[in-house]
Order: sequence, then C-alpha cells, then structure tokens
Amino acid sequence: MLFDSHAHLDDSRFDNDRDEIIKAAKENGLQYILNPGADLSSSVKAVNLAEKHDMIYAAVGIHPHDVKDMDEDTLQILRSLSNKEKVVAIGEIGLDYYYNHSPKEDQRKWFKRQIEMAKEVNLPIIVHDRDANQETFNILNQYNVGDIGCVMHCYSGSVELAKEYIKRGIYISLAGPLTFTNAKKTHEVAREIPLEWLLVETDCPYLTPVPFRGKRNQPAYVKYVAEAIAEAKGMTLEEVAYQTSINAKKLFRIL
Ligand code: NI
Repeated sequence: MLFDSHAHLDDSRFDNDRDEIIKAAKENGLQYILNPGADLSSSVKAVNLAEKHDMIYAAVGIHPHDVKDMDEDTLQILRSLSNKEKVVAIGEIGLDYYYNHSPKEDQRKWFKRQIEMAKEVNLPIIVHDRDANQETFNILNQYNVGDIGCVMHCYSGSVELAKEYIKRGIYISLAGPLTFTNAKKTHEVAREIPLEWLLVETDCPYLTPVPFRGKRNQPAYVKYVAEAIAEAKGMTLEEVAYQTSINAKKLFRIL
C-alpha cells in the first residue's frame, strides 16, 4: 500500500496520458492519490478527477502564487466545492517568499482566510512554505491547526522546526528531493522524525526523484521517496509504505 499525498494530476503535462499514468500508479502499489488544487480551475479539475477515479481524492485551495487575484467570492466557491464527497482537505495554501508571485500582504491575508475557512468546514490543510519558515510556523501556531489536521507539504526545513510541528500534531511530508545526495537537512528529518508523523508525496509533475531526476514526475515514483525514508531509518520499504499510508488516511479521514 502506498499513498501519494500530493500529486498535481490535473496538470496539463498529463493531458495526453493521464489514464496510463493512473494505471501505472496502481501497478506500482499505490492505493491512494491526493490531488491538491493550486487555483480555482485546478481545484475544479481535481474534484472532477477524484469523482472519476476511486483512488483519487481532492483538495481545494489557492496556492500563494495565485492569491493576488483572490477575493471573498473565490473563497465562497472553494467553500462550496469543499462540501463534495471526495474533497478531503483545503490546499495547497501557504506562503512563498522565494518567488513572491503575489505580494506578501496578499499571501498572508489569504493564507489566514483559507485556514479560517478550513476550520469552519472542519477539513485538514495542506501547507506550502518556501523561504517563509518562521512566519508560516507562527500563523499555524496561532490558529492551532493541529485540531483540524495539517501537513507540511514537501518539507525542506530543519529537523528542529519539524519537531516543533509534530509536537503540535502537524504531519511532515517528504518528496523527491530526499533522494538527492546533497539533501542533508532532509535526510536528517527522515531519520529523526518518527514514522508516525511522516507522509510521502511526489508533487508531480515536479521534483522527480532519483533515478528519474530531470524527467516528468508521476505518482508511481513515490516509492523512491518511501525507499529513501526506509534507508534513512533502517526499515523496510513495506513498513514505510504501510505506515505513511495509514498516516495519510488518518489525516484526510479516509476510511
Ligand atoms: Ni504542489
């Protein structure tokens, strides 16, 4: 059993072979895929994909890159989408001070508004943090998001910060960069954070793990991330695959 907790299967790079990619995921032991939204149209696409395929679940949300165009109407549409049966989270939401595609004030405002909405509809959140570690932590702490459930997607921060997150009931999700030899910090996170708090993801089509680095990523490759965790912890791939799936099912309340 494997659960890819973050796959952008709605991305246009899968338009020509999406069904084959989903088939390949099944053949490689995946039972679940979570497709997060990044803007309104990808959120709608994620919901449609989830309704079409048993193994796919959706999250709806506006990525920090795209919040510059967000307004309260957008939030209302997300809220109504969140009522759909296969929508199990709000995301991906957060702060990205690396690219700053949206002004920082807008990022902060809409990160908070989407957390408030998640609390109202009682769904967990999927958080994107790039170059905004301290501020992201402060906001999540302020909102006490452990009570709705939260995962730090493609975690790239320190092991110390990861420990503060898990203390607050927040999961850490690891992606392809863990398989890169120079990812020292992330290796430490894989080794030190208890398996009960880890999720695996591809973030496909991005962040392709070794040995396919440089090619388009896909959910079938999530096993390479699980393998890297197994190696860091001295466990078997099966143990890591099983426990990270259980963790994701618990977070997203999938029975
Ligand atoms: Ni993503």
